[in-house]
Amino acid sequence: MKRSKYVCQECGSESVKWLGRCPDCGGWNSFYEIVESPKKGSPLSRFGTGQAPVSLSQLPSEDFQRVPVPISEFHRVLGGGIVPGSLVLIGGDPGIGKSTLLLQLADAIAESVGSVLYVSGEESLPQIGMRAQRLGIHHPGIHLLAEGSLEQIVAQSEAMRPGLLIVDSIQSVVLQDLGSAAGTVAQVRECTLRLMNLAKGSNLPVFLVGHVTKEGMIAGPKVLEHMVDTVLYLEGERYHSFRILRAVKNRFGSTNEVGIFEMKGKGLAEVLDPAQSFLAMRPPHPIGSTLTVAMEGARPMLVEIQALASRTVFGLPRRTANGVDFNRLLMISAVLSRRVGLALHDQDIFVNVVGGLKIEEPAADLALAIAIASSRRNAALDPGMVFLGEVGLGSELRGVSQTERRLAEAQRLGFTSFVVPKTGERHPGPNVHHIATLGEALALAIGRRGPEPEEEENREDE
Ligand code: TYD
Ligand code: MG
Repeated sequence: MKRSKYVCQECGSESVKWLGRCPDCGGWNSFYEIVESPKKGSPLSRFGTGQAPVSLSQLPSEDFQRVPVPISEFHRVLGGGIVPGSLVLIGGDPGIGKSTLLLQLADAIAESVGSVLYVSGEESLPQIGMRAQRLGIHHPGIHLLAEGSLEQIVAQSEAMRPGLLIVDSIQSVVLQDLGSAAGTVAQVRECTLRLMNLAKGSNLPVFLVGHVTKEGMIAGPKVLEHMVDTVLYLEGERYHSFRILRAVKNRFGSTNEVGIFEMKGKGLAEVLDPAQSFLAMRPPHPIGSTLTVAMEGARPMLVEIQALASRTVFGLPRRTANGVDFNRLLMISAVLSRRVGLALHDQDIFVNVVGGLKIEEPAADLALAIAIASSRRNAALDPGMVFLGEVGLGSELRGVSQTERRLAEAQRLGFTSFVVPKTGERHPGPNVHHIATLGEALALAIGRRGPEPEEEENREDE
């Protein structure tokens, strides 16, 4: 008997009937029918071991021997090397450099693990060969396989017994007896489950590539996150040629870690002194431009906020907000005029979040206020200072959620100077300033508290 169900391709939510809108993630038109052919016993049943419970005190402390990765940024993000039998998912946009990174990983550890099996369901052997040549990789321990059938991949891996298996990508492999097309939720889940069994069963570390997909029939890495041990995302574009490898989930380490790489002609190179590189992208004495760390779900993200105050030429002063909430901009402007005494009544104010990002949280208030004040006073700021804090109507600075994580992110990127709200909590670090009011934050960031420059300076930019 054939059974069918409907699965949301965005979040993996299931339903017995078709729905126009997913009740879990709110996606529209994301349900697709999946016909399940009858299976001989669920693959889950293989997880049963029939063991008796063990006392916590009798467990050996750490019984896995991690394999060190000579690429130190990668090593750290993994939580200190590769754990045997672990399943690691590397997600990212197409073309961001996932295949490049994994080929470099294969080269780096082929020596210590003996052999690596690199399976590609997307590229032919000559294509992989060309990339390897470009990267200068020719280690004999790397074995390549262009294969899309998961049964074949498992069989080849069991015959070869490599020290590391790489599957590039999970969306391009299929289990034939499943009936549905490659890349559907049913396929990627079932294939991941089989690879999980392979990994746990033979203590083999497995790396999976998962393309981030926007929509359509292809299931993205999100639907696999709960199944695998470690989820890493390779991100880029916002930082130009920089690539950030970030742990989003890690059963064997911290998720505060990021590794920073740069895409060069010969593949991804580690960026060991990120502060220099990130600061180099900022003007040495920025006016009206500040940095803050916004949270995108659980992910901290460094963002730059720019403001320009310019004398109103005709009529009412205008306020333009790109990437921040318009009403918040009005509120911060009012607090700056009333509580800090900044003359904004005859100024047009333009605000922009660099890179087209949208910030919805109040944690960026302080950065926004400092940017506006710096532009109005034509005062230069420290390019490496990061501002966190919500601004209240009384100009008091209020604490923001996950300050620890945000600071850790900025510190990882090499920034060392921070302004945070003065709450009960103290954040360690030589240059973390705990500040109570917007006025004090301005005094620290801009220093001088004289009157605003008059028309001469403003006229220049008209
Ligand atoms: P790739 O690893 O194929 O991306 P993914 O597997 O995530 O889809 O990398 C693709 C891009 O990286 C490609 O556009 C070219 C660029 N690239 C370099 O700039 N230098 C290199 O040495 C290599 C191999 C790729
Ligand atoms: Mg690829």
